[in-house]
Amino acid sequence: MRYIVIGAGAVGGTIGARLFQGGHEVLLVARGAHYEALRSGGLRLFTPGSAETLTIPATDTPVPPRDDDVLILATKSQDTITALDPWPRHVPVVCAQNGVENERTVLRRFGRVYGMCVWLPALHLEPGTVAAHGHPRSGMLHIGRYPQGVDELSQQIAADLAKSGFVALATPDVMRWKYGKLLGNLGNALEALSERAPGTESLHERVRAEGTAVLEEAGIPYSTPREERELRGRQVELMPIEGIERGGGSSWQSLARSSGSIEADYLNGEIVLLGREYGIPTPVNEVLQAEANRFAREQLPPGSMPLERLTALIDERSASGSR
Ligand SMILES: NC(=O)c1ccc[n+]([C@@H]2O[C@H](COP(=O)([O-])OP(=O)(O)OC[C@H]3O[C@@H](n4cnc5c(N)ncnc54)[C@H](OP(=O)(O)O)[C@@H]3O)[C@@H](O)[C@H]2O)c1
Repeated sequence: MRYIVIGAGAVGGTIGARLFQGGHEVLLVARGAHYEALRSGGLRLFTPGSAETLTIPATDTPVPPRDDDVLILATKSQDTITALDPWPRHVPVVCAQNGVENERTVLRRFGRVYGMCVWLPALHLEPGTVAAHGHPRSGMLHIGRYPQGVDELSQQIAADLAKSGFVALATPDVMRWKYGKLLGNLGNALEALSERAPGTESLHERVRAEGTAVLEEAGIPYSTPREERELRGRQVELMPIEGIERGGGSSWQSLARSSGSIEADYLNGEIVLLGREYGIPTPVNEVLQAEANRFAREQLPPGSMPLERLTALIDERSASGSR
């Protein structure tokens, strides 16, 4: 199997690096300064207790397809279509992303689509560099055919990942896990805007409660944090890496890199969309979605929104009824 990792950032870089270290053929797909750094100097991978440079082949354009290719898509959700468009449509695609919209978007274009639920604390702020904070395993990855089921390929990929430093399993209900993960990711925008300011816990609870209410009303099954913790056990703990500070998760990193976009439309925006479809007000998610997008557009630094201001906006929106 040749693993072609499209979007070799925090998640894609870690998955690609671990598979490469596990003896698999890997091709990293990147762009801009990150691609130039990978091409000229390889991927610098930092983990708790190690730092190494891996000379993994990299490209910034599609390569001639092979029968044994698998595309691992690890861009942010807002980049899914642009990143996948140039690739041949008969190749299987694994969506190693948060949110629940990517699989549907990709299935419109590609015949064989797999969802992957990604628990993998990683950081990518500098071109050519990725830090994987999970220890002793780098992450927990559930994979399954979209919309459901397990086939030979998903089992093969799970087996390769399990031998390459991950807790990995093929599961017939991958989207249930991804909806459960989505509920946790509703806090990403909050962390990006106000970091861990004292008092954020109550907003975390409110944003999650809205998400849960909407999924319940829509009859969408979702995994619970308890199920996740039981599977993960102590196999993937977020550990510090000397000399590298992980300021926050993937949305925080989008603001820290002034990337100009953020994933909020596919995280909080998913709950807002479902809320509108099912007639459930979602003022907390609406405000977080709007403010995260504004911060990304205006390239404002992460953590610079005073929590009092954010809370006031949410209370105002709650009082006026969600739009
Ligand atoms: N980071 C985490 O800890 C974490 C954990 C669990 C799940 N996730 C999820 O995993 C997914 C990926 O997140 P991430 O944090 O790994 O993002 P990331 O670090 O920003 O990596 C994504 C990479 O994709 C590249 N990219 C975007 N469009 C491209 C294109 N058309 N061609 C080539 N490369 C392209 C980006 O390049 P540019 O920098 O030029 O945009 C970036 O290098 C998201 O859905 C996220 O929510 C992240």
